[in-house]
Amino acid sequence: MAESGGEGCCRCCCSFIFTSGLTALFMWLSLRTSKPTCSVQNFSVPALNKTDNSTTARNDHTISFDIKLDNGMKDKGVCYDTINLTFFYGQNYSFPIATYTVPGFYQGHNKHTNRTAMVEANGVPWEAAFEAVSNGSTVAFRVGLATRVKFKILTFYTKRHNLIVKGDVPVNDSGKKVNKKGIKLKSNAPHLGNHRLRLEYVVFIFTVLIIFLL
Ligand SMILES: *[C@@H]1O[C@H](CO)[C@@H](O)[C@H](O)[C@H]1NC(C)=O
Ligand SMILES: *[C@@H]1O[C@H](CO)[C@@H](O)[C@H](O)[C@H]1NC(C)=O
Ligand SMILES: *[C@@H]1O[C@H](CO)[C@@H](O)[C@H](O)[C@H]1NC(C)=O
Ligand SMILES: *[C@@H]1O[C@H](CO)[C@@H](O)[C@H](O)[C@H]1NC(C)=O
Ligand SMILES: *[C@@H]1O[C@H](CO)[C@@H](O)[C@H](O)[C@H]1NC(C)=O
Ligand SMILES: *[C@@H]1O[C@H](CO)[C@@H](O)[C@H](O)[C@H]1NC(C)=O
Ligand SMILES: *[C@@H]1O[C@H](CO)[C@@H](O)[C@H](O)[C@H]1NC(C)=O
Ligand SMILES: *[C@@H]1O[C@H](CO)[C@@H](O)[C@H](O)[C@H]1NC(C)=O
Repeated sequence: MAESGGEGCCRCCCSFIFTSGLTALFMWLSLRTSKPTCSVQNFSVPALNKTDNSTTARNDHTISFDIKLDNGMKDKGVCYDTINLTFFYGQNYSFPIATYTVPGFYQGHNKHTNRTAMVEANGVPWEAAFEAVSNGSTVAFRVGLATRVKFKILTFYTKRHNLIVKGDVPVNDSGKKVNKKGIKLKSNAPHLGNHRLRLEYVVFIFTVLIIFLL
């Protein structure tokens, strides 16, 4: 009698662990989010366009850009806060040459969108830059993007997460980005993401272990 009582309790306990394990697994699978991908698709600096040798072009201190924002998640939306774009020349990261803000917006499942604009750049050593590209070198412009995003899962929103990425855009004497391909903006702190991923894997492996133990 006592033995069968213990067995019942054990079975109950096991099924409790099994159910919580499965729940944890499905929660993890359905709440998993990934940040949107940001890339520079087009970048043009008329002042560095050697083909156009007019003084108008040399004195044109504008930069035109096309930034692509890509939500790769099939079942979650992304809500962007105001997006701050900051531009630098070369390795002079203490003085932004231009800034631009994109108003916040909502992006649906698996959607991507572009934001194009033109900014006036200040503090670029234009003559040196033109000389460098004329010599066949490339000059680099850094694009920094900072915003906060929250994810929409069914009808709920998650808390906000920082999205801070950057990338260097090489420009040659065509006055344009050297590569046709987009330049993906990357995070400064990849370790944070890895750390979170590892935690999720621990939960996952723990769950699988429990399932196999039963
Ligand atoms: C880049 O800009 C040029 C000129 O504005 C345009 O013709 C071209 O289609 C753009 N390319 C991409 C990839 O957006
Ligand atoms: C460079 O200048 C040439 C000649 O004016 C023009 O056809 C071309 O579109 C310009 N390129 C860029 C990137 O502005
Ligand atoms: C610069 O422009 C002048 C006339 O505007 C032209 O004769 C000359 O060939 C151009 N030089 C280059 C390097 O394109
Ligand atoms: C957005 O970027 C894509 C991919 O490079 C390009 O083909 C398209 O012309 C861009 N759209 C706008 C509106 O700039
Ligand atoms: C960075 O840019 C600013 C503004 O143009 C300039 O005053 C400063 O000397 C530059 N610093 C370096 C290290 O080039
Ligand atoms: C461009 O090339 C010339 C000759 O090779 C050299 O004297 C000059 O310093 C170079 N300028 C730059 C900015 O690289
Ligand atoms: C964007 O810039 C505004 C104004 O400078 C600032 O208040 C906001 O915190 C910035 N956002 C991010 C994510 O850095
Ligand atoms: C400069 O970049 C443009 C755009 O990618 C490319 O078509 C051109 O061949 C490049 N010029 C040089 C001199 O590398």
